Amino acid sequence: MRGSQARGDVMGLIRPGIEELADSPIIDVWRMGFQVEGVIGMWAGEPDVPTPAFICDAAAKAMADGHTFYCHNRGIEPVRAALVSYHQRVYGLEIPESRFALTSSGMNAVMLVAQALIEQGDNIVAVTPSWPNICRAMQMNGADIREVAMGRGDAGWSLDLDAVFAACDARTKLIYLASPGNPTGFMLEREEGERLLEFARARNIAILSDEVYHRIVYDRPYAFSMLEIARPDDPVFIIGSFSKSWAMTGWRLGWLVYPEGLAPTFEKLIQFNTSGAPQFLQYGAIAALNDGDAFTAEFVARCAAGRAIVNERLGRMARIRNIPNNGSFYAMFSVDGVSDTLNFCKRAVVEARIGMAPGEAFGKGAEGLVRLCYAKSAENLTEAMDRLEHFVAGYAEG
Ligand SMILES: Cc1ncc(COP(=O)(O)O)c(C=O)c1O
Repeated sequence: MRGSQARGDVMGLIRPGIEELADSPIIDVWRMGFQVEGVIGMWAGEPDVPTPAFICDAAAKAMADGHTFYCHNRGIEPVRAALVSYHQRVYGLEIPESRFALTSSGMNAVMLVAQALIEQGDNIVAVTPSWPNICRAMQMNGADIREVAMGRGDAGWSLDLDAVFAACDARTKLIYLASPGNPTGFMLEREEGERLLEFARARNIAILSDEVYHRIVYDRPYAFSMLEIARPDDPVFIIGSFSKSWAMTGWRLGWLVYPEGLAPTFEKLIQFNTSGAPQFLQYGAIAALNDGDAFTAEFVARCAAGRAIVNERLGRMARIRNIPNNGSFYAMFSVDGVSDTLNFCKRAVVEARIGMAPGEAFGKGAEGLVRLCYAKSAENLTEAMDRLEHFVAGYAEG
């Protein structure tokens, strides 16, 4: 108990719920890699190309022009206008600026939604495998996590919506789903979105639709968005990010689309969290939204080339079974005879100098799987596949 802590026992001051949060096993492996020279890192969801110059230049110019002050909590007026026209251009949708907030990363947008909705004792239903940070953010705000695993087979990943609905009860605040998925690449189809929305409306449960990979797709111009079917008053929250489509992971910029009427709620939450994203960076975001299509197309073509290399090589490797991936930029595979994928990934860093993420990081449904990010150069991926093949051939668990 806090009252009985000796003076100076700082740990005694920390909320137990924070101490109990598990660290991400992805970071565990990543940390090991810092000491390994020449390691090819495919652990994180990050392209190996820097942000294009036209975006950097716009931010640098804004900084030089004196855009260095506090600004509107939901983002400067031109960035909200750019978000409006981006959604018009990509989806043909008219969404008023009052439903957008520019956030300090997609992750920050997730945290804002968690803070807005979750009360102690609520639960959230998360479709897994999923990026671990989302559920951790929900837990930090007091939610119990109910994971519903997707099915996996030779045709790829499948979503059992009836299992999602069955996991919901009177204390369920939101259903989390990423499409395209990380780590699965799974993409929600319109009919599935419609069933999900119908359920959410009937039960007044929020849908947190994580669409940060909406442009990283290979068989269509963009992934289906819940925005295409949601009414302005539906309990639908969309997470967007500048990280993936425009190679801006380090900028920590994203956006949130929320139901109409909630602008004051999110202004307040942003005010008390970050007081808004850096103004000059927002000029980079405007350049990305308005003029970034050519870069995105080039980047997606590069990912498609990486995907082809990885899928072809994994498909031919003895002991490896690769699950077909449709969107985002990850491969997920199992290795015959390997159940402890954290140990597999740790040893791969040291013994083969390749960085991958263990399946156990991604929750139910990812047991025994390994994830790698193929948003990398063809040269690095080819070398990484050579190293992996050699490593797996000699790998024995234990
Ligand atoms: C599924 C998913 N959602 C959200 C994010 C957060 O993106 P960021 O915080 O970089 O904008 C990521 C990042 O990897 C992700 O994979």
